[in-house]
Parts: sequence; C-alpha cells; structure tokens
Amino acid sequence: MTRILGIESSCDETAAAVVADGREILSSVVASQIDIHRKYGGVVPELASREHLRQIVPVVREALAQAAMKLSDVDAIGVTQGPGLVGALLVGITYGKTLAAALRKPLVSVNHLAGHVHAVFLEAFKAGRVAKLPAVCLIVSGGHTVLYEVTAGDSAGQDLGGLLRYRKIGQTRDDAAGEAYDKVAKMLGLGYPGGPILDRLAAVSSGAPAPVKFGPTKTRGNLLDFSFSGLKTAVLYHVREHPEYAGEIQTREAALQRGERKFEQLLPLCSPQTLALVREFQNAVVRDLVERTMLAAKELAVESVLVSGGVAANSQLRATFEERANNMGIDVFFPSRALSTDNAAMIAAAAFERFRAGVFADSSLDADPSLVLG
Ligand code: KG4
Ligand code: ZN
Repeated sequence: MTRILGIESSCDETAAAVVADGREILSSVVASQIDIHRKYGGVVPELASREHLRQIVPVVREALAQAAMKLSDVDAIGVTQGPGLVGALLVGITYGKTLAAALRKPLVSVNHLAGHVHAVFLEAFKAGRVAKLPAVCLIVSGGHTVLYEVTAGDSAGQDLGGLLRYRKIGQTRDDAAGEAYDKVAKMLGLGYPGGPILDRLAAVSSGAPAPVKFGPTKTRGNLLDFSFSGLKTAVLYHVREHPEYAGEIQTREAALQRGERKFEQLLPLCSPQTLALVREFQNAVVRDLVERTMLAAKELAVESVLVSGGVAANSQLRATFEERANNMGIDVFFPSRALSTDNAAMIAAAAFERFRAGVFADSSLDADPSLVLG
C-alpha cells in the first residue's frame, strides 16, 4: 500500500490529507479561511499567504494524527504546484519540499485542476462505481470554469498505472461561475461566499414570476467557451433600475453586519421578487454549464461526464446534469460536497497517479500560478 500525504494551499483553504493507493482516504483536513476573507467579499492574496503559514503545520499534523500515522510512515509527499495564488502556493510547496528532503521521501507535484478531476474518481471509488473513460470533465469553482476531455494515456487506463491525458476544450472568457455567484450575492446583500446561500434561496418557491429574463449566453467562436460577466452585469443593471430592491438590500446588509448570515436569517428578509431574481440567475448559470458540457459529451461521444469544483455542490446543477445525462445514456459523476471544494485528498490521489508512473519533482520545484493542464 502506498500512502501519500497531500498538501494543498493554492487559494483560501489550507489542506492536508493521507490517501492510500490513490483511492482510499485515510484522513482529510481542511482549514478554511472564509471568515478571514468574508469582510472583503473575496480572497485577499496577502492575507491568504499569511494564514497558510499559520495553518500548514497544525493541519498536516492533524491529517497524520487522523490517519494514525507518523511522518516516517508516509511513502511520498504530493503538493499543489499551481494554478493559484503564488504566495499561497509557495507555502505548501516550501513545506512539502522540506518534508520530502528531511524524510528522504519522493516529492510529487500536482496540477490543482488534475486534483479536481481525481476528486471525482475518489468519490466514485467510495460508491463502488467506475467512471469510464473517455470522459468530459467540467471544473467549476470560484477561480475556474473549464472543460476538459479526459482520456486514458498510452499504456494506461485509470487502474493500469498510466497517466491520464487532459485536453482543454472550453473555458470561461471572463468570470468563473463561482465568481458570478459571489458577485451577485454581494450586490444583493447576501454575504460571502455567494454560492451556498443563492443555491438555497433559488430553491424556495416564491410564487413570483421572474422579474427579468436572462437568455442563453452567446459566445462567438468556440461553442464550448463560457461567459458569465454579461449575466452578472445584467443582474446589476436590473437591480439598479428597480429602486424597490434598495430597501431590502440595506436591511440584509445590516443583518450581515450583525453576523446574521444564515439562510434561515436571510430568507425572511428577501421579497418574492428577489427570490425569483435569484432563481432566474441560477437557471441561467445552470443552463449554460449543462448545455455546453453535454454538447461536448455528445460531440466527443464520451462514456461519462465528471463535474468537480466548488460550484459542483449546487443542487440544481446536480439535478439538471443527472436528468440530462440520464436521457442521453451517459453516466454522470460528482464528488461529495466535501470533495467538491478545495481539499488535499484530491491532491494526494492525483499525486499517486504520477508516483506510480515515476514522475517526481525535486528541490527546484517552484510555484506556477498559471500552470496549464494538458
Ligand atoms: O472550489 P472552491 O472551494 O474554491 C475555488 O474557487 O477554487 O469553490 C468556491 C466557489 C465559490 O465561488 C462559491 O460561491 C461556490 O464555489 N459554491 C457554490 C456552491 N457552493 C460553493 N456555487 C453554487 N452553489 C453552491 N451550492
Ligand atoms: Zn479548486
């Protein structure tokens, strides 16, 4: 059994995990910085690096303790090289390099996006399912909205020791979908991060008709590219042009100031019109993500669709994907909510694949904020 310690620090989560043979999670610890970045309505890079520095040692220690292991029991260290915030990445990389050198264990660098793909495989394994390749993978988070074709490499196959092949087939031209959620929540006085609260508000049946309609987004050129900034701006203009929203937004901002940011606390402060607006926004995001992903699935005649990243936790997105994929006879896979958002189990799982293929990093490993996958 190969036990890999994974370390993730690319954005605002400091995470460590131990995964056996790339599939069995022995421990997974995530220290989220949401409380630190909340008042700025987004991740502040300098604060993120500082917080990673504070958290990295206790988080790794906790991951080992939960796996009932000592550092010397670890077979290799897997660490996120990029993409992400350079200062944040450097904390994990420096710590990973130091551990690997001190323990004389191999160091494996991991692309964060490959980690998100592996989160799906981890979940499938837990459920006793196999995500067959070729697949289309949508990675959709606060930082990314990108579509990959995932195929087995030459000698490969997910279980045969080869490296997976990734080909980028579409991406957002502007905002990531999670970023659109966060910005719309901010303008509506619904706090940060925006995804979870908007997800729940959109599911409340308000009885009100949509106060505005958002049509499908058109992107010139590649039909598999996304765009969310137009939608965000459309919400902004709609809210600006309709003064009736102003009062309730102020009321909610005051509630947030008092620390009342739970769904149960904010729901009574939302008019039926606001609930209908949130639903229309979510309909537009979900439609766009599902349509383009399923178009790719059809064109490439894949066996499965994989959906990963923070926004993959969205209930309407999940339900819509299930329904569409079912109709097309394609299997769809999501990680659990805990594995959808940033974590280190997915990094350890992705590291195992490279470890097995003999792809190692050395002490010259450096952070690459815009590391490309595929
Ligand atoms: O993957 P993640 O933890 O971090 C990165 O951005 O890499 O994703 C966080 C993003 C945030 O933008 C958050 O608003 C969004 O995922 N999110 C959701 C939901 N839960 C989290 N978006 C829609 N629906 C959700 N249930
Ligand atoms: Zn991520």
